[in-house]
Amino acid sequence: MKLSSLSIFVGLAVQFALAAPELKRQSSNALLINPAGFPDLPSPQTTNHRVGPTPQVSTGSTLDLDDVQGDILIGMRKNKETFFFFSIQDAATFKSKLSSDIKALVTSTNQILGTPPTTALNIAFSSRGLTALNVTDNLGDASFTSGQFANADSLGDPGTTNWVSQFTQKSIDGVLLLASNDVQNVDDQLANIQSILGDSISEVYRIDGAARPGNEQGHEHFGFLDGVSQPAVQGVQDPLPGQASVAPGVILVGTDGDGTTRPSWATGGSFLVFRQLQQKVPEFSKYVQDHALNVPGLTEEENADLFGARLIGRWKSGAPIDLAPLRDDPDLGANNQMNNNFTFAHPEVPGFDISTNQTFCPFSAHIRKTRPRADFGTEAANTHHIIRAGTPYGPEVTDEETASGKSSTDPSLERGLAFVAYQSDIPNGFEFMQEIWVDNFNFFKANTGVDPIIGRQQGSAADALRNITGTNPLDFTEVFTLDLDFVVSRGGEYFFSPPISALSGELAA
Ligand SMILES: *[C@@H]1O[C@H](CO)[C@@H](O)[C@H](O)[C@H]1NC(C)=O
Ligand SMILES: *[C@@H]1O[C@H](CO)[C@@H](O)[C@H](O)[C@H]1NC(C)=O
Ligand SMILES: *[C@@H]1O[C@H](CO)[C@@H](O)[C@H](O)[C@H]1NC(C)=O
Ligand SMILES: *[C@@H]1O[C@H](CO)[C@@H](O)[C@H](O)[C@H]1NC(C)=O
Repeated sequence: MKLSSLSIFVGLAVQFALAAPELKRQSSNALLINPAGFPDLPSPQTTNHRVGPTPQVSTGSTLDLDDVQGDILIGMRKNKETFFFFSIQDAATFKSKLSSDIKALVTSTNQILGTPPTTALNIAFSSRGLTALNVTDNLGDASFTSGQFANADSLGDPGTTNWVSQFTQKSIDGVLLLASNDVQNVDDQLANIQSILGDSISEVYRIDGAARPGNEQGHEHFGFLDGVSQPAVQGVQDPLPGQASVAPGVILVGTDGDGTTRPSWATGGSFLVFRQLQQKVPEFSKYVQDHALNVPGLTEEENADLFGARLIGRWKSGAPIDLAPLRDDPDLGANNQMNNNFTFAHPEVPGFDISTNQTFCPFSAHIRKTRPRADFGTEAANTHHIIRAGTPYGPEVTDEETASGKSSTDPSLERGLAFVAYQSDIPNGFEFMQEIWVDNFNFFKANTGVDPIIGRQQGSAADALRNITGTNPLDFTEVFTLDLDFVVSRGGEYFFSPPISALSGELAA
């Protein structure tokens, strides 16, 4: 199909969707995936008429989705996505091209939701990069300013020995995020940008990510549907049953609900945490097989699947174990009205004690460690939310790896998640979750253990034994000792994803 006719078709589809809001919105461009079970995409916002619910917080500033970069509010939906980390060599030329050429290529939220380009582009800067551009305003986030390298130990990384060297060299000034339905489009757009910017930047590092193939689309490499439990941002989207509803200022700086003073040019920007998280998939699968539970009435395979699901808190389909405690329920996983509609509290079960009873979901399960829901009474008491927007990278597991139960040491077979989290405050968002919940052996009860997927006790050596409890529904006290890290941090950086207006304003001045 010709591009022009595609755009017209998409434009009509969008108008139709606006006129008929009861229809489930599907992604209108293959650069976004839309697996069953994900929250629906919000509608684009028009200047005169704000589509969607009225913000539930007092309006300090307007939420302008033409100015907010397109990756921030959309979540884990890219078909192909390349992360291109660069160093600024000639700031004056870079600033001039940023304003004159690059800004026009950067994709807004409204564009992504309306008529996306063939290849979407977003751009973000490290603290070092802003300094290189002579932008010295205090953005109000100490972790961003110090960078991820300085925070490696507190994040539970065993130093930076597992980090890819480019993340340790302190030469990354920014990152380009390019997304499309096709790798060739991404490569073409990157070549175009490199020819515009010339020698004003140089490549430091690059990661090519992609949604997994076929029915695994939307699933991370361990096999679980990922991105089900994103918060809904007030003023953009009404929450689905059980979905957290957050003020825009939890994600976007300078908007309603952000309590920190920011320079006005930064309004609508967001801090981007990038982490390259290697996943040892054959090892994880083998560990799960080797630790099949003993629940009566289940086959050995079902008992192994149950063990895996109790590490995560969801089945591979995305169905929460809190609602489907014994077997996967793909229909539940695919139903976004129901797959978040739980709190761990079970008011329907007389006498159920959420603070002691792990029959439905272990306290240590990944989704409970990162979003404790009613463990805090009400969700409203929890201000720690992020929007995750990562993409898997690396090939599928090979037969040889499956047979040996070991990840290949061939670097071209490394796989994992190019993890991206957006928030208005890194210490209150990603770092809080990782340090205070995930890596905390005693959160939220003594001896809960660390998060079995991404948790590590601070200061522990690489592959140090990690203990968890609650995973056996027949004996909550049984300790499982995880004898290796299924997820290895290969490092990353903290960035600021500025509002598009700043690309010809403050950042180009
Ligand atoms: C940055 O500021 C310094 C000192 O004021 C100045 O010499 C330099 O030209 C500036 N660079 C850019 C790219 O604006
Ligand atoms: C969500 O859960 C509540 C309480 O269990 C229930 O009343 C409601 O019907 C559920 N909603 C959906 C869409 O299943
Ligand atoms: C936990 O709750 C379930 C469901 O009500 C119940 O069958 C079980 O006995 C409870 N377990 C404990 C240890 O209280
Ligand atoms: C973890 O459990 C093992 C037994 O499986 C025990 O030897 C070890 O001391 C425990 N470690 C911690 C930190 O609790």
